[in-house]
Amino acid sequence: MNRSDKPKPKKLNGDGNFTDFTPERLEKYRQEGVRLLVAGFVDGELVYVLEVPFESLCDRLQSQLDKAFPQGREKGKYLRSANFSFQDYQDDERVECRYLNPQWRQFVQWCTESFQKYLERFEGGVRPMELNTVMVGDALTVLKTLPDNFADVTVTSPPYNKGERDKGWLVDKVVYDVANDRKDEEAYQAEQIAVLNELYRVTKPGGSLFYNHKIRWVRGRMLHPYEWVSKSRWIVRQEIIWYRKIAANLRGWRFWQVEERIYWLYKPRWEGDTIGEELNPRHALLTSVWEILPERDQRHPNPFPIELPTRCIYSVLDERKGVVLDPYCGIGTTLVAAKLLGCDYLGIDISETYVAIACERLEKAEAERDRVLAELALHVVRKTFKERKESGKWDHRLKRNQPLQSLRQIPIKQVSLPIEE
Ligand SMILES: C[S@@+](CC[C@H](N)C(=O)[O-])C[C@H]1O[C@@H](n2cnc3c(N)ncnc32)[C@H](O)[C@@H]1O
Repeated sequence: MNRSDKPKPKKLNGDGNFTDFTPERLEKYRQEGVRLLVAGFVDGELVYVLEVPFESLCDRLQSQLDKAFPQGREKGKYLRSANFSFQDYQDDERVECRYLNPQWRQFVQWCTESFQKYLERFEGGVRPMELNTVMVGDALTVLKTLPDNFADVTVTSPPYNKGERDKGWLVDKVVYDVANDRKDEEAYQAEQIAVLNELYRVTKPGGSLFYNHKIRWVRGRMLHPYEWVSKSRWIVRQEIIWYRKIAANLRGWRFWQVEERIYWLYKPRWEGDTIGEELNPRHALLTSVWEILPERDQRHPNPFPIELPTRCIYSVLDERKGVVLDPYCGIGTTLVAAKLLGCDYLGIDISETYVAIACERLEKAEAERDRVLAELALHVVRKTFKERKESGKWDHRLKRNQPLQSLRQIPIKQVSLPIEE
């Protein structure tokens, strides 16, 4: 290819497109009052994020659908790409600018002249992202659109890149609604590091990320999550064993794997703050092995049991309220736990179906309050070591066969939760 054949880079013009679009999808988004995030990047640097009501794009999308399906849509046929540009929403007063790069004028050569003029109207009028929403989109792309230092705690579990072939007696093959779980391992790990680093950026100093993953084997070679977690910017504060009690695969190549890992990752408050604040003892006594059964739910292949995100959030925030994030939120378990604990939340998932279920669960969150309360009831110090020593109950040895669990069975009524008005 000689120089003149080189394709010219496309300029930013506030456009976007939908793949495999249908009249049914148009109607659904219109009825649901969907709002879209339209973002522009130059060389990976975010320039702007606009939040646009879907309604303002309908006329343009409708005319493309009419052209594609003059006789009406036949089953199985899709409009491969339906596009829009800022001209479609420029007169809509409801458009919000959620982010404008403070150096955006350095990028104007990459903007069309008319779009540059459109962006100018938002200078000094940026309104950061609204909390307590659930967004449909790719985790990394959406995270890039979020501001620095706003989240207190993230609890998340990404797809594990298991090649969708794990099938056992007790646990079905994991197949997600939209995402495929079969990536080149190197690319997968690079993407996970990028997501971890974006989460680091958006987390407040002193904030935490609980990152759930598991050890996998590919052709006999062990792939340990610590390999890539330790390459991210986070301080690895602890590796927690999630003892699920049930194995996904019951072959005898190894002892049955009944655990997963949860990495408690920490963002230092200042350089050299590698230790952070001490946990309140009532949380610390829950130990580094969490015995929690996996969840069974017909609507998603592997949602969190709600006790798990509840434990993470409550342990680090204690009675404080904060902002909770889950960039792979599935059907929204972390978000429901956050809401019931009185926190603000923000969720992202690539599947519209899961996000719709998450929204429904959030509306009916009260139905899950008892399980959250039961988890909180475990966070209690019945007797301090000093008191146990004084009463002769602690002789420096743990009695054989005394289950740790029995030390923490406390009636639910000892704890309280914010009540929704
Ligand atoms: C292990 S599940 C999380 C389940 C969640 N903790 C819950 O309680 O429902 C992983 C989720 O990641 C979503 N996902 C996969 N690829 C994604 C991507 N690139 N961006 C955002 N979400 C993605 C899947 O749709 C799936 O719901």
